Amino acid sequence: MSKTIIGTFAKKLINWHARSGRSGLPWQANRDPYAVWVSEIMLQQTQVATVLERYPRFMKRFPTVKKLAAADIDEVLAEWAGLGYYSRARNLHACAQQIMNEFAGKFPSDPLLLEKLKGIGRSTAGAIAAFAFHERAPILDANVKRILARLFAVEGAIQDKAVNNRLWSLATDLLPENPQEMSIYTQALMDFGATWCTSRKPVCISGDKACPFAKECQANLSDQVLMFPQKQVKTKSPEFDCNMLLIRAGNAILLQKRPDKAIWGGLWSLPESAWSPRLSGEVKVLGLKDLLSSALPAELVATCRKICKSAVQGTQIKHVFTHRRLWMQIWMLEALEKKEFSNPNLEWVPLSQIGRYGLPQPIKVLLQGLSQARDDDSRN
Ligand code: ADE
Repeated sequence: MSKTIIGTFAKKLINWHARSGRSGLPWQANRDPYAVWVSEIMLQQTQVATVLERYPRFMKRFPTVKKLAAADIDEVLAEWAGLGYYSRARNLHACAQQIMNEFAGKFPSDPLLLEKLKGIGRSTAGAIAAFAFHERAPILDANVKRILARLFAVEGAIQDKAVNNRLWSLATDLLPENPQEMSIYTQALMDFGATWCTSRKPVCISGDKACPFAKECQANLSDQVLMFPQKQVKTKSPEFDCNMLLIRAGNAILLQKRPDKAIWGGLWSLPESAWSPRLSGEVKVLGLKDLLSSALPAELVATCRKICKSAVQGTQIKHVFTHRRLWMQIWMLEALEKKEFSNPNLEWVPLSQIGRYGLPQPIKVLLQGLSQARDDDSRN
């Protein structure tokens, strides 16, 4: 391994940032640990352009860790709607309560303590410690893994434990000596990965710009930049089918709260059947009773059968998750009355109030379409 780059990397990267890094982003203005933490969680799986719009809104709604901890989880989920990966919102809420209960409302600066909190992994702990407390803690997100795998031509899939350990060790070796530089260094590393040392079109390949590490980067020196980081061979994610009931009584829709541990946990959605592996792709048409039984708690089937006359086959929506794909067949049912159920996970919600509920994005889009059609009808 080249000794020289270990000693010079941080300084060179910080110089690069002064000329070409990103600055003026709203979360860079406030280095308060709460503000840093929220921005890092939001930026984990959401694009910067979206975070630019949603981060200020979230901070306005929940300006302190105390306010977030005291909020109802449904309010947090509703504010998070559209950002995806909802376990982040549930973890934010749970973590805010941990900070209030176990740390007297103050974030710890030690990355090892941060890492023990809900929803904070090792890399995010490093980022918070570096940005908010100038701790000499490394980060290792996917962008940084790519940079290091290229600089040192690290062989082996990055999912591999030994490869991952080697990358953490390199990330630690490269840190600047001066803790005061940790914040700018960490931001520079993120920016360099996101804008110059990109996955498919790094500047050394596109020829757009001169990479400051071109003469030290082992992958570049051997003309193999796009070969790093090495990937595990992917298998195609499995596909599933389910039925969803869109039961409508006048202007209200029957929504069901999803279990916390499920996909889209804690969000409100349409009653849905168990997922079955997708075989032929053909929709299996069920009788009304079987359709209702497949998606509703057993004790409600008879009641719903009395108030719903028939089910009309609606649209089919495909949704791609990280590890699976789901085909949702919507069935439209007209209910004769808005029968109240004692089950707290079922609610009749007027279409005009849907925006107040945290809904999975495809269901939100579907219901917004209905709401729009209704407004258009009432104008005609
Ligand atoms: N991704 C994760 N954290 C980030 C940050 N602080 N700035 C830009 N992109 C990021």
